[in-house]
Amino acid sequence: MAWLDNLLLSLLLLATFSPTTILCFLNPGRARVHEGTMKTSAYRSYIVLVEPPPSTVGKDGYRRWHESFLLPSSHASNLGEPRLIHSYTEAFSGFAARLADGELDAVAKKPGFIRAFPDRKLQLMTTRTPEFLGLRNGSGFWRDAGYGKGIIVGLLDTGIHAPHPSFDDHGIPAPPAKWKGSCKAARCNNKLIGAQSLVEDGLDDEDGHGTHTSSTAAGNFVHGASYHGMGAGTAAGIAVGAHIAMYKVCTPDGCFESSVLAGIDAAIKDGVDVLSISLGGFRPVSFDKDPIAIGTFHAVSKGITVVCAGGNDGPASGSVSNDAPWLITVAAGSVDRSFSASVHLDNGKRIDGEALTQVPKSSSNLYPLHYEDRREDCNYFYDDPSVVSGKIVVCKNMSPKVEVSDILRVMDAGAAGVVVFDDEIRGYSTAVKDYNSSVVQVTAADGKALKTWASTSTRAKFTYHNTLLGVHPAPVVAWFSSRGDSRNTVGVLKPDILAPGLNILAAWPPKPESGHGPFNILSGTSMATPHVSGVAALVKGLHPDWSPAAIKSAILTTADAINSTGGSILNELHEKASFFDMGSGHVNPARAADPGLVYELGFDDYAGYICSLYGDYGLLIIVHNSSLTCEKLPKVKGINLNYPTIMVPLGPPPTTFVVNRTVTNVGPAASMYMAKVEAPKSLKIKVTPDKLVFSKAGEKKTFSVSVSGRLDRGDHLEGSLSWVSGKHVVRSPIIASTLLNH
Ligand SMILES: *[C@@H]1O[C@H](CO)[C@@H](O)[C@H](O)[C@H]1NC(C)=O
Ligand SMILES: *[C@@H]1O[C@H](CO)[C@@H](O)[C@H](O)[C@H]1NC(C)=O
Ligand SMILES: *[C@@H]1O[C@H](CO)[C@@H](O)[C@H](O)[C@H]1NC(C)=O
Ligand SMILES: *[C@@H]1O[C@H](CO)[C@@H](O)[C@H](O)[C@H]1NC(C)=O
Ligand SMILES: *[C@@H]1O[C@H](CO)[C@@H](O)[C@H](O)[C@H]1NC(C)=O
Repeated sequence: MAWLDNLLLSLLLLATFSPTTILCFLNPGRARVHEGTMKTSAYRSYIVLVEPPPSTVGKDGYRRWHESFLLPSSHASNLGEPRLIHSYTEAFSGFAARLADGELDAVAKKPGFIRAFPDRKLQLMTTRTPEFLGLRNGSGFWRDAGYGKGIIVGLLDTGIHAPHPSFDDHGIPAPPAKWKGSCKAARCNNKLIGAQSLVEDGLDDEDGHGTHTSSTAAGNFVHGASYHGMGAGTAAGIAVGAHIAMYKVCTPDGCFESSVLAGIDAAIKDGVDVLSISLGGFRPVSFDKDPIAIGTFHAVSKGITVVCAGGNDGPASGSVSNDAPWLITVAAGSVDRSFSASVHLDNGKRIDGEALTQVPKSSSNLYPLHYEDRREDCNYFYDDPSVVSGKIVVCKNMSPKVEVSDILRVMDAGAAGVVVFDDEIRGYSTAVKDYNSSVVQVTAADGKALKTWASTSTRAKFTYHNTLLGVHPAPVVAWFSSRGDSRNTVGVLKPDILAPGLNILAAWPPKPESGHGPFNILSGTSMATPHVSGVAALVKGLHPDWSPAAIKSAILTTADAINSTGGSILNELHEKASFFDMGSGHVNPARAADPGLVYELGFDDYAGYICSLYGDYGLLIIVHNSSLTCEKLPKVKGINLNYPTIMVPLGPPPTTFVVNRTVTNVGPAASMYMAKVEAPKSLKIKVTPDKLVFSKAGEKKTFSVSVSGRLDRGDHLEGSLSWVSGKHVVRSPIIASTLLNH
């Protein structure tokens, strides 16, 4: 699409990130947990789980009930801050409050108290990618799906820059009658129908992250987008016709769980269809200790599809977070685009890399390469002109990553340019950054070669090639994307799905002081998440009555396991990506709209699963429904949830394990499917029956999958089951692992 290409070209030269965006731009050092608790003056904030109010009451009744847990003296702190921060009614049975030391003990003694959680700080997990996902304006699936019109996508984020043209409402109908939310932004319209701040802060997006994610999920077409007069084109979000509701839950100080929970609570009350959460950052804690898992359980129970970032703690295995089975957990991959620049050496070699600051006219001068083993890290204090003046400095992007100020220091000392090469861990997935200088970023492998050339007094120059499309291999899983297995949801494959999250271009607030806006390029599972939220909105638009589980199943069973030329999707090291890297594969919107069969899961399944994990006490904490007990519920282990992906525990001695699944026909009433199994030789997979015949829409069929094989301890093997009809392929990854402790 010409409009898309033009846009990509036009948005090439972007200025430096603001300091706060460091939060969303990832590296292992920073992406680790920030376990701080919110401390204001002498008070600490807690999320307190209590029994529901004695009788059914309105909103004020909830508040009064919640206030009754606080001591009379503690309704306002001596600084005049209200002590009750949030009174939750939908997502959670309880409230958030600031308590002085010792007060929690008094609260805990009140009848009705169940549990308190210290409030923790979460992290942001920081496009133009519709075409890469096969979405073309005016044709095919995107048009048939009505571009997501009538669907409301809620986002929990840093706020929104409402005047941005991505949030114009041309072509967008009025919100549906069910919408109960309010919009308090500088500009509200039929695109931006909800904007609410759950923090003591205005709605505007000082960070930019929320503007970026909102426009990726459901930004409108922006004609004539350009950056500094470079090119012109049209930008669009994935569900370009959908409505946006922003719940601001972060301040420059961070995003606290109490605020995020308040955002979930508000989104449920307002009636969003899809909730997009590009936040997280904790290594998974068990769900009964995780207010976000509890809040999203209630959102999903009310029919909201909740999509979450899987985290930026990759590539370590077992690093995935936001991994509850009721969520769609998203991994991040690359797109087929490069912000291309090359290093030309005087020995005739050329190394291709990327640069976000591109100089249209390259210099013909060649400069000596300078590299020092001792001072490999670009963070090293390179400020001696006698060392770097007139040279191209070659240095490594270590954690913590290279800052603009590090580069400025080298340039100020007279360097002609800098080649920043990646740490080995990042492999071939370079996250670009605008250093506002002559900087070319290259892979770890190319860095190694350059190091060698530097020792032979090789000279070099840079050339810039703007944007290249059709770059391959793509997608490639990004190095930072968190990996399975899930240590918390044993027996359920997490992450669920791979979507574009590396070097994603989307809307940005104007920041004249930093030269930012109106678009910016960021990387993170934060960026991948709204792509999937947009797809969920498109699917929901076509199938308004589908459950969140059906929408998830549709997205997972139709994901691409291979790239556009039929090769395996690769990880950051250019090895075949495993299901723990990418979930069921790369999201394919058009196929997700028409999956043929879906794997359903409902409230009772999730509640029964919670029973199997934690028993009645867990049920009380997470589900808090007094008419339910574990006795009345099926006890469902993770491996037995009717999930669209399959994991089976196999021991080192040859063993066989059987799981059952039930599919629901959402395709043509009369249809027939045959089981097609793919598996390595050492894994035997048998499906019974291997043929499913449907005669009605909505008809359910159960089958069992028997997996046998011999695995070495610590091993896992991958295969798949596809139900194939003339029109549909319904694919489920199968993972056999010795690590599953069911
Ligand atoms: C997309 O298609 C619609 C309907 O055909 C048209 O009104 C709109 O201008 C198009 N947008 C772009 C960016 O081409
Ligand atoms: C597809 O993947 C193979 C390796 O699995 C790779 O060689 C090829 O370049 C990829 N094609 C595209 C278009 O990315
Ligand atoms: C980028 O660099 C140019 C020239 O070196 C300078 O004039 C400009 O202010 C810089 N922009 C930012 C945002 O630092
Ligand atoms: C509690 O569970 C019962 C049985 O599943 C259900 O009918 C009822 O709607 C639930 N109540 C609430 C408040 O969710
Ligand atoms: C799976 O289905 C078979 C046949 O219907 C049944 O005998 C078996 O108990 C089921 N297994 C589980 C784990 O539900």
